Amino acid sequence: MPKTIIVSNRLPVKISKEDGTLVTKPSEGGLATGLGSIYKEGDNVWIGWPGLAVSSESEKTEITEQLADENMRPVFLTPKEIEEYYEGFSNETLWPNFHYFNQYAVYNQNFWDAYCKVNAKFSKAIEEIVEEGDTLWIHDYQLLLVPQLIRKVFHKLTIGFFLHIPFPSYESFRLLPWRREILQGMLGADFLGFHTYDDMRHFLSSVNRLAGLGNSNGQISLPDRKVLVDALPMGIDYDKYANVAAAPETLDREVRYRTSIGDQKLILSIDRLDYSKGIPQRLRAFELFLERNEDYIGNVSLLMVVVPSRDQVPMYKQLKEEIDLLVGRINGKYGRLNWTPIHYFYRSFPLNALSAFYRMAHVALVTPMRDGMNLVCKEFIASKLDKKGVLILSEMAGASKELSDAILINPNDIEQQVDAITSALSMPLDDQVKHMDVMQKSLKRYNIHHWVNLFMERLNFIKDEQRSLETKIIDKDLSENIKKQYNLANERIIFLDYDGTLTGFHGNPLDSKPDEELMDLLTGLIKDGKNKIVIISGRDKSTLNKWVSSYDLEIIAEHGVWFMSKKKEWSTAAELNGDWKDDIQKILDRYVDRTPGSFIEQKDYSLVWHYRKVETGLGEIRTRELTSHLKYITSNKNLQVLEGDKVVEIKNSEINKGKAAKVLLKQYNADFTMALGDDWTDEDTFLAMPEESITVKVGNSASAAKYNVPSYLEVRKLLWKLIEQ
Ligand code: UDP
Ligand code: G6P
Repeated sequence: MPKTIIVSNRLPVKISKEDGTLVTKPSEGGLATGLGSIYKEGDNVWIGWPGLAVSSESEKTEITEQLADENMRPVFLTPKEIEEYYEGFSNETLWPNFHYFNQYAVYNQNFWDAYCKVNAKFSKAIEEIVEEGDTLWIHDYQLLLVPQLIRKVFHKLTIGFFLHIPFPSYESFRLLPWRREILQGMLGADFLGFHTYDDMRHFLSSVNRLAGLGNSNGQISLPDRKVLVDALPMGIDYDKYANVAAAPETLDREVRYRTSIGDQKLILSIDRLDYSKGIPQRLRAFELFLERNEDYIGNVSLLMVVVPSRDQVPMYKQLKEEIDLLVGRINGKYGRLNWTPIHYFYRSFPLNALSAFYRMAHVALVTPMRDGMNLVCKEFIASKLDKKGVLILSEMAGASKELSDAILINPNDIEQQVDAITSALSMPLDDQVKHMDVMQKSLKRYNIHHWVNLFMERLNFIKDEQRSLETKIIDKDLSENIKKQYNLANERIIFLDYDGTLTGFHGNPLDSKPDEELMDLLTGLIKDGKNKIVIISGRDKSTLNKWVSSYDLEIIAEHGVWFMSKKKEWSTAAELNGDWKDDIQKILDRYVDRTPGSFIEQKDYSLVWHYRKVETGLGEIRTRELTSHLKYITSNKNLQVLEGDKVVEIKNSEINKGKAAKVLLKQYNADFTMALGDDWTDEDTFLAMPEESITVKVGNSASAAKYNVPSYLEVRKLLWKLIEQ
């Protein structure tokens, strides 16, 4: 029975040693609380670190056995690994970089080495239990390299990855010395999920800039497979929080807490100790609110829970001191014998206690500087059974994208925070209920089960896409079969596109001239008298003349404008008019003026604007502008505007490779017909070929061709195979 293996740095429980005995407690943090309630089905397993350093083998065995009962498998870390991989690279390098706190980021080669080593350790732990057919679901920034490590061993495995924290803009991500390795690591997954569209587009932009890979609807084409990227905001176990809020134990606690606090209004904040949570900024805003609103002195308190977290990391230690000082100062300044402005707890609480806090609070103040999602604000909403209460939420939290009925604030704007607290405390009940109702409906629908199902659906979708592509990929058997047909034929015609099919791409198009291997290959192909080889290209005729006319083959240049027969004479099939070129050239010149790195290629009956060397992103934006500009101008000129691989080409609309191929197909009565090409101008060739032809698309985007190969290197391999004796 196939199983799902969840892998995260931290298990949903953490084990600690108290008075010599091992104690198990639930882990804090959105990842553990979010997924904790849904992983136990069937043979599913969760692999992760139990949260402590264990040195004795007997203790390791004891922990392993204890966890096995709960479908968990531990990965043990040494104290040095905890220091360098967990506290170091994960929390002193990636965490600040991904949350835009680059001033806190530490770049340390030893941390990176430890990160690589521990990611490999997790990968080994997976290898011990994974089987073909299983689904692997890897979580979060501590394990960014695991997808690729596992992919190297299990090429076909279904691997999903979800990032629980923001993915930063390229401008932040590029600062990491190991940015390329990190992206490669992530791209080992089949599906990569992010909380928000912004995270997703930042990731895609980094992939584009650092790996040179574009995407189509979130699908990235790698040489061996397609990877899907999507935004998938994580929800909470809504019913669980609503039920706990109605449980007798929670209600008892509420009564007890109320008795000791009094009946003043309560503002609630709950976070892990983290500088990304905006805790000092929130305290300063609360202080300013008290300063400006004397009426509320004695009538409103802030109930602030800070859960200890990563307290060995220097920035977290400093933050703790800063919070302690601020709370002390505010309580010292405003406190009275019968009233405390801030009830501050530096510890974690069981779920019933949290639920009682959620119930009691009039306002939840959730003001992170950055947060991947933030589940606390969602839990607050689910716990409000009477729909009374107001959420103040930072627009920097992923949750703000879904919860637009909250009072949204910028956590850097202290005035706005103060105003928000004032209006939240005085919001009429009807309005509270109205907003709460909208948010509850949304959170009920987009709950954790919905999130898990959607994740699996998207993962299966891309696996299906990969499988349908795989049946088209030319493997050993298929190439044997093509070779058989080739051997049986008496007369063959083979259409070969040039750029991207016989050679790779270069910054300067003139650098793509045939290398030695290609020259040998062409010689080999034409040596067989049964072969008619046709180079069918969009290139101008003089370049092709220089590069390939010395071979005994035919050439179709400029997408079919020019034909060169074996007799080395150029002819054209159509009566063409090139008068339009001057006007269009003027327009293209303007785009070259505005776009450093771009240039114009002149052909007899077409013009091409190249932008391969233009800053990534700018070329694409200019292309959009240029094509809409040109479409308007060329509409009554019988011209076509075509977008190719980093080019925009303007040519006569009656010309295409398909029409040109048909002319040659008619001339010869071949019983083996084959065409290979990499871009969509070759689609015309594929469509023009007889039914039984072998048509091969280079790359794995959608095509009318029957088969695919990943790159021009495999094209060469296939052609060598055909001619080998
Ligand atoms: N939490 C907890 N014990 C506590 C306080 C909070 O388990 O004493 C939980 C809280 O219920 C929430 C999670 O910790 O589910 C925090 O998740 P969030 O996404 O808000 O922030 P993260 O810690 O993941 O950055
Ligand atoms: C965030 C991260 C989790 C992490 C949690 C608690 O939610 O996304 O990956 O587990 O914080 O942090 P910790 O360092 O204690 O595991």
